[in-house]
Amino acid sequence: MPYALVTGCDHGLGLALARQLLGRSYRVVACRLNPEERQVDELAASYPKRLIVCTLDVSNDESVFALAAFVKSRLPHLDLMINCAGILGDMRKTLGDELDFDEMLRVFNVNALGPLRLTNALFELIALGEGKLIANISSEAGSIADCYRRGWFGYCMSKAANNMQGALCQNALRDKGVRVVQVHPGHVATYMRGHLDTTASLTPDASASAVLEILLDKPLPETPGVTYMDWQGRLLPY
Ligand SMILES: NC(=O)c1ccc[n+]([C@@H]2O[C@H](COP(=O)([O-])OP(=O)(O)OC[C@H]3O[C@@H](n4cnc5c(N)ncnc54)[C@H](OP(=O)(O)O)[C@@H]3O)[C@@H](O)[C@H]2O)c1
Repeated sequence: MPYALVTGCDHGLGLALARQLLGRSYRVVACRLNPEERQVDELAASYPKRLIVCTLDVSNDESVFALAAFVKSRLPHLDLMINCAGILGDMRKTLGDELDFDEMLRVFNVNALGPLRLTNALFELIALGEGKLIANISSEAGSIADCYRRGWFGYCMSKAANNMQGALCQNALRDKGVRVVQVHPGHVATYMRGHLDTTASLTPDASASAVLEILLDKPLPETPGVTYMDWQGRLLPY
């Protein structure tokens, strides 16, 4: 039976990914930040034998060490890790405004350093699995080539850095047979903006289903460096 770990499962895309991996017969470690968010507990009640819920703050070294120690003590290997946790930060300010650099550092810590913390802590367990796959939920906002925004500094810069950490990890893990992919999940109706984003074109379930299809059901594209693609498997430019 394959094992998967997903971060950011309080709600939104992470929760949908965890639910659908259970539907695909995975044993799942679902990491959530806030124990008061109960949706993942409801999922655990339906899958008591195959879902383990853990608390994890990807921006905190000790939290990642503790999670990794627990996972290594319970799982023989990991086939798939999806680094999904993320935060948005300010979307409105542009040059000339009073920019909040402390907030940008927080966004960077979660979005760019968080996946690296997890990969660094768990790559050996992933190398032992059959799936050997790390998927970082990035964003089209991390593409420098396609950049059109004039703000969203913390988010866009952190996702570009997320892509670079993915590229570095792919290089470091290639000889272990581990694939690292960067995925833009589409515009998804979640609460990432602090309210339900009704302008989004995809539900979390539709995005999760498409993301798992390109990760698990189709051959991953062969690209020279790390693969950066959207939820439909279309390659994105860095
Ligand atoms: N929604 C979109 O249109 C869209 C587009 C492109 C990319 N993405 C990416 O998709 C991923 C999922 O986002 P989403 O749309 O599903 O938003 P979401 O519903 O807000 O999910 C983000 C999750 O990450 C958790 N999280 C935040 N900080 C964390 C931390 N320090 N440690 C661990 N978990 C943390 C959140 O927990 P709490 O909410 O409890 O704090 C939440 O469960 C993100 O990486 C995002 O950048 C989303």
